[in-house]
Amino acid sequence: MAKVKSLRVASDKSITHRAIMLSSISRGEVSIVNPLYSDDTLRTLKAMQGAGASVDAEAIGLKIKGKGKGSLREPLNILDLGNSGTSMRLLSGLFGGEGVFAVLTGDSSLRKRPMMRIIKPLSKMGVNFLYRDGGLAPLAIKGGKIKGIEHTTKIASAQVKSAILLAGLYTDDEVSVWEPFKSRNHTENMLKAFGVDVLEEENSVKLGKNRELVGDFEINVPADISSAAFFMVFSALKRGAELLLRDVLLNQTRSGILDVFDSAGVKYSIEGYRVEGFEAVGDVMVRHSPELKPFKIDGSILPRLIDEIPILSILAVFCDGKSVVREAGDLRKKESDRIKAICENLKRVGVSVHEYDDGFEIEGNPNFRPKPAKIDTFGDHRIAMSFLILQALTDADFKLTETQSILTSYPNFFDHLDYVKG
Ligand code: S3P
Repeated sequence: MAKVKSLRVASDKSITHRAIMLSSISRGEVSIVNPLYSDDTLRTLKAMQGAGASVDAEAIGLKIKGKGKGSLREPLNILDLGNSGTSMRLLSGLFGGEGVFAVLTGDSSLRKRPMMRIIKPLSKMGVNFLYRDGGLAPLAIKGGKIKGIEHTTKIASAQVKSAILLAGLYTDDEVSVWEPFKSRNHTENMLKAFGVDVLEEENSVKLGKNRELVGDFEINVPADISSAAFFMVFSALKRGAELLLRDVLLNQTRSGILDVFDSAGVKYSIEGYRVEGFEAVGDVMVRHSPELKPFKIDGSILPRLIDEIPILSILAVFCDGKSVVREAGDLRKKESDRIKAICENLKRVGVSVHEYDDGFEIEGNPNFRPKPAKIDTFGDHRIAMSFLILQALTDADFKLTETQSILTSYPNFFDHLDYVKG
């Protein structure tokens, strides 16, 4: 029998961003082991260095020596955050709290993404903003005296929640965020590890009394489940495949893809489940799963798999029946309009898809074979990787408009694709 293949995919993007930001405003020295070095996270790193953070690159990762809250200086130049929505939204809260003047911009995709969702609550907290009409970047930020807030979000968003929590570190007032469903809680977990009092409930989070961050520890960044997802789906669909994905982040607020695997009948198992530092991690074994049932995604599971919907749409193509994604209108505001990008490209390759305002329906067929097609990635890394997986599974003749965008989250994607294919 062939040896089981095993892969450690790219490190977690969300955790890397937060580790760089929080270490920079903590007191003490933090080693960030296995950070993700991708375009998005390097934008955060450069922005923090621009604001005076002391960062050393070491063999195991990054060493950041923080001098505590209020120690950042005004970045001298405009900060270009490329494609990274997480950088722009979280740094708005952080720089707002620090009280520095900062100008944040990004690429043409980021400059189209809605920033009103952070501008409104952060303005209420005392941060001053100038921005383009419609709440678009570039944003000019100047923090004032930060006040408390009790904020309720219309949609679950970890970026909005985190921006508020970061600004909220700079006041003693009550700061709380209520969400319709719980979004990823890495900011909360990491703040707790730095010693901040954070009170988490089902759909709400509050800052407690202590809001000082103390470093002097190590943050181990696990593999990103959102990157592992591409190879998990590949293995579920590839005849004879058996792939072990090592050190995968299995935080409940991120592992919705496994619930979809349960309902679709994907054969997988979790091995070596453990809590490393402040996040759950495990190895995920995925096997070829020939008889797949269609699935439905809506409601509370959405934030738990929001970035996996492009690759789950590829899984749906091979399920025996109609899979449905609804209540996911925010997908239109991601790195691209992902509902449009998924539907348009699936139609081009011959899949029967119906597009809704807030999602889509895919008529799956276990024997599906795609037509040759030009795939428009809309400059979106997750659209590009999803269709490269479909191509690898079927030897389809696709021409993608670009693949450069993949560098934002998964620089060694092509090496890993070659490995699992070979
Ligand atoms: C992220 C939160 C999610 C996700 C994004 C990363 C984060 O965005 O889609 O890729 O690191 O906080 P929203 O908060 O806008 O849902």
